[in-house]
Amino acid sequence: MPRKRVAVLISGRGSNMASLIKAAKKPDYPAEIALVLSNRPDAAGLAVARADGIATAVVDHTAFGKEREAFDRTLQAVLEQHCIEIVCLAGFMRLLTPWLVRQWEGRMINIHPALLPAFKGLNTHERALAAGVKEHGATVHFVVPEMDAGPIIGQSPVQVAPDDTPDTLAARVLAEEHRLYPQALKLVALGEAKLTREHDEPKATR
Ligand code: GRF
Repeated sequence: MPRKRVAVLISGRGSNMASLIKAAKKPDYPAEIALVLSNRPDAAGLAVARADGIATAVVDHTAFGKEREAFDRTLQAVLEQHCIEIVCLAGFMRLLTPWLVRQWEGRMINIHPALLPAFKGLNTHERALAAGVKEHGATVHFVVPEMDAGPIIGQSPVQVAPDDTPDTLAARVLAEEHRLYPQALKLVALGEAKLTREHDEPKATR
């Protein structure tokens, strides 16, 4: 079966991107990282991708002002130029318009550093500690227009230690993210995890 062409969208250091690149180097992995795309020219992950011989592109959101749809149309054009079949958001810090999300329904996934539906949004580790939860973790989900709300493909829990700080907890969750994301992408690339609809509500089936 031909390997699926994947774009990884980043805004920063790109450690999840690196974990996907590493997994995709295995000959039996069902996806190849064909493009790394950033909205920030200074994203550290771009250099990591280039060093691995992976095509990179930058669509600088600051050039578009408040024109979110124009930004998203440019993203879409770049994804089409590279014949991308699956999009992985990996620390991509821009909200996408419903128009773009719809283009990729069932073919765009995101990693979030919390056990969704708990702690959507930013600063998840601080909020998990403040809430006193005993278990925290990471989630990979299909992307739908509502932020961090799409059907869940996989989750990886970590136990919260009494002396955890946001940084120590973040580090343990990140290690799980690096394990979880390649597994989840594999399921999607193989068609083993799919976005389906029940009474028009999106659902992940495996
Ligand atoms: C990760 O914690 C990811 O879950 C979140 O943003 C962070 C990105 O880190 N969405 P990196 O750029 O992959 O290192």
